[in-house]
Amino acid sequence: MRGPLLNVVFLIAAISCTATTFWDDLNFEPSLLPWHVGSSKELRESCINDQGRCPVSTAELEVKRCFGFEPNCAFRPDIFSFNHSKCHTKVQWPGVQNMAQQKEMFWMQADFGSLSPRLNSMRVICSSDDEKGGSYLECSDHLRICKAQNIYFDFKSFDKKRSQRYRNDIIHEGEVGGKCKHLDKELLLARTDEKSYLQSWGYELEHFASYEDFEVNSKHCDVIFDRPTIVMKLDASVNMYHHFCDFVNLYASQFINGSFSQDVDIFWWDTHHSGFGDAYFGNAWKAFTNRIPVELVDYAERFDSEEN
Ligand SMILES: *[C@@H]1O[C@H](CO)[C@@H](O)[C@H](O)[C@H]1NC(C)=O
Ligand SMILES: *[C@@H]1O[C@H](CO)[C@@H](O)[C@H](O)[C@H]1NC(C)=O
Repeated sequence: MRGPLLNVVFLIAAISCTATTFWDDLNFEPSLLPWHVGSSKELRESCINDQGRCPVSTAELEVKRCFGFEPNCAFRPDIFSFNHSKCHTKVQWPGVQNMAQQKEMFWMQADFGSLSPRLNSMRVICSSDDEKGGSYLECSDHLRICKAQNIYFDFKSFDKKRSQRYRNDIIHEGEVGGKCKHLDKELLLARTDEKSYLQSWGYELEHFASYEDFEVNSKHCDVIFDRPTIVMKLDASVNMYHHFCDFVNLYASQFINGSFSQDVDIFWWDTHHSGFGDAYFGNAWKAFTNRIPVELVDYAERFDSEEN
């Protein structure tokens, strides 16, 4: 019995090694794919060179397409939204004189166009010249979205007992940072200009500092997230209108990062003592990750149990 069983296991491993490609991992709404693949030079080329696996045909890629937030793209007839958004009623908006401007305003405020200000304002705050294990932190204007590597949060001051939602005092001085070769503290502080729970990472990052002796290892960290991880603050999960802002924001963040793999960890930054919970809409997370999201309170608890 042992022989065949082992063979089966082997076969599965072999299949998953050869069959999982970038294209299989790309969890993307099919009707939008030609726009996504067509908008990036690298993706376009690798798709044309991989016609056996790439789900977009070379013919579809002959037409230049994009969403409008990419470099060298703007609001014009060949972007996705131009032919998908329709205006039937003229509205009175300041600065809008005709239907074309009305459509563009909608795109800028409620559609893919709203990603441009975030993308165009991304600036590096901490970097390490490719030094192995060095930290990296890059954020948009007002610290609304950030990308980071090898940074830490220390939850030692987070006393979760009776903790309420929307707390801004989880992270204090010394409780966030990394080891940066270059740290632009001035830029960081200039960007903490919109501090508010659901608006930015201002309260969590204002104390970001560089420590010469910091390293991501078990000596310095209890828990290490070594897969791509999405850390997000959340609105009320009991209400569809509020909670779907979270999912729309997450979807927008995927476009900003240009990554659509479900092979990611999701970390719910919710400060309530009993956690976020998501009884009504929890299934929607499966569109973004193939793992169960983890949450902030679980890490406070871990700290408590180790202390006591
Ligand atoms: C979108 O509509 C415009 C105007 O009707 C047309 O010229 C253009 O070819 C369409 N673009 C796509 C990508 O379908
Ligand atoms: C963000 O994009 C980078 C570069 O493509 C990728 O390596 C990383 O995994 C992405 N992050 C997430 C959380 O998906």
